[in-house]
Amino acid sequence: MIYQVYPRSFADADGDGIGDLPGLLAHLDQLAGTELSLDVDAVWLSPIFPSPMADFGYDISNFTDVAPVFGSLADLDRLIAECHTRGLRLLLDLVPCHTSIEHPWFVDSRSSRGSARRDWYSWADPSPDGGPPNNWRAGFGGPSWTFDEATGQYYLHSFYPEQPDLNWRNPEVAAAIAEVMRFWFDHGVDGFRVDAISHAMKDPQLRDNPPAIDPVPPFPVDPTGQYRIWNMDRPEVVEVVRFLQRVAAEYPGRLLVGEAFVPVDRLVAYLGDGAGDGFARAFDFELSLIEWSAEAFKVTIRRAERFTPPGIEPTWALSNHDLSRHATRFGERRSRLAALILLTLRGTVCLYAGEEIGMIDAPELPGPPLDRAGRDAQRTPMQWEASPNGGFTSGHPWLPLVDPLSRNVATQRGDPASLLAWYRRLLALRRSSAALRHGALTLHELHPHVLAFTRQDGDERLLVLANLGDAAATVDAASIGASGEVVAATGPRERAAPTSALRLEPREGLVLRAG
Ligand code: NOJ
Ligand code: MG
Repeated sequence: MIYQVYPRSFADADGDGIGDLPGLLAHLDQLAGTELSLDVDAVWLSPIFPSPMADFGYDISNFTDVAPVFGSLADLDRLIAECHTRGLRLLLDLVPCHTSIEHPWFVDSRSSRGSARRDWYSWADPSPDGGPPNNWRAGFGGPSWTFDEATGQYYLHSFYPEQPDLNWRNPEVAAAIAEVMRFWFDHGVDGFRVDAISHAMKDPQLRDNPPAIDPVPPFPVDPTGQYRIWNMDRPEVVEVVRFLQRVAAEYPGRLLVGEAFVPVDRLVAYLGDGAGDGFARAFDFELSLIEWSAEAFKVTIRRAERFTPPGIEPTWALSNHDLSRHATRFGERRSRLAALILLTLRGTVCLYAGEEIGMIDAPELPGPPLDRAGRDAQRTPMQWEASPNGGFTSGHPWLPLVDPLSRNVATQRGDPASLLAWYRRLLALRRSSAALRHGALTLHELHPHVLAFTRQDGDERLLVLANLGDAAATVDAASIGASGEVVAATGPRERAAPTSALRLEPREGLVLRAG
């Protein structure tokens, strides 16, 4: 169980309106260590490194320090120690495929064609007409190439122009990133979420991408308008993954969780054979892209079960800092059922800070967007208490809070019927059940609108029923061995439920013991 903290938005201790490490330290109780905690296993911290913040930290100008706006290296050391005291593992964000334009490596690389680090990035001559070397488009819009007047060549960037791509074909780049990993491992960090790894390698011939015509569900049409066949998810990326995994293996017990925005049948390439030659975990984004229907969830689960190599479990999230929050995407009234499904799936689950209180996207934000790719709405500050700034800051928050008076941690902590209480119940259930933690998952067909699966470990067998429909559904749960003992329910329920004709209310979910 991982909990993602977007550091700018979690808690601000120094009153500058931007979340920071001392703020996180002061709110670790939400994660682990007390009776009120969610009790997760690990925290993943989005980037906290020095950065001009063109992509709010995913443009790094120094990989081995902490940005002053977030605190100091000493604060991070304190955080590591405090996490470990509470039995929490700390994962940082490793961004191996690009740096900031302000990183000294890039400053050196662009200084002259003959610079020692010229080849640390991808430079290419203009095409014969003087335009970019090929038709590749960047993930957030515009060409993937930016012209550099001083040296008369273009540099490559998969994201913003402020994020030049590192050239992973150069062994010096690999060695430099390995040193970054070792630096943090030596500080006691337990692992990394590995950013945008599918962008590590590109076609050396720089061939043009074909236009994207149809979406490949559940993925939308590629935002670049192209099928990125030559600059993304290249077969050689696997070599990079193996390399990173070998570095992690120098240290016992360290975890790498890959981020690759590809379908699960491609994601498996990043997981290797399950015996340690690939990432131990990689996010399956299909779950965060699907519509709200039992059929879509079934397809996603079936695909994960079909493709994930033995020895590895899927990694799931419904929300993160890049995607519309699922309470908004699916609709708020579905939050309890969404939580029940997420927290009973087979695999590692990642929660995005705020989802446990049902936070929604900001419906509107004043002024021009701070993030050019339009992701401000899902990054608004965490709502800790019922006050205008929600206990997030004593100053002026960098993004406005959405609805702290009606939705906040303090109020929900005192309410056993709250969404927060429900998340805590489900997390406790998951911890206490070997079947939920690592049991096998089997899907069942009971009703078109009901997602039904069993989780089994040895003698322990639990049945999950989720009515995703907006009408009641009656199912024969006896046919798949339900005993009628209700272990958890989204709504009011007796301890025993009928089994052969079990009526599920709209959006009702149950965990039943099975014989
Ligand atoms: C994925 C990160 O989650 C996103 O926030 C970032 O903009 C890109 N990678 C580029 O680093
Ligand atoms: Mg601050």
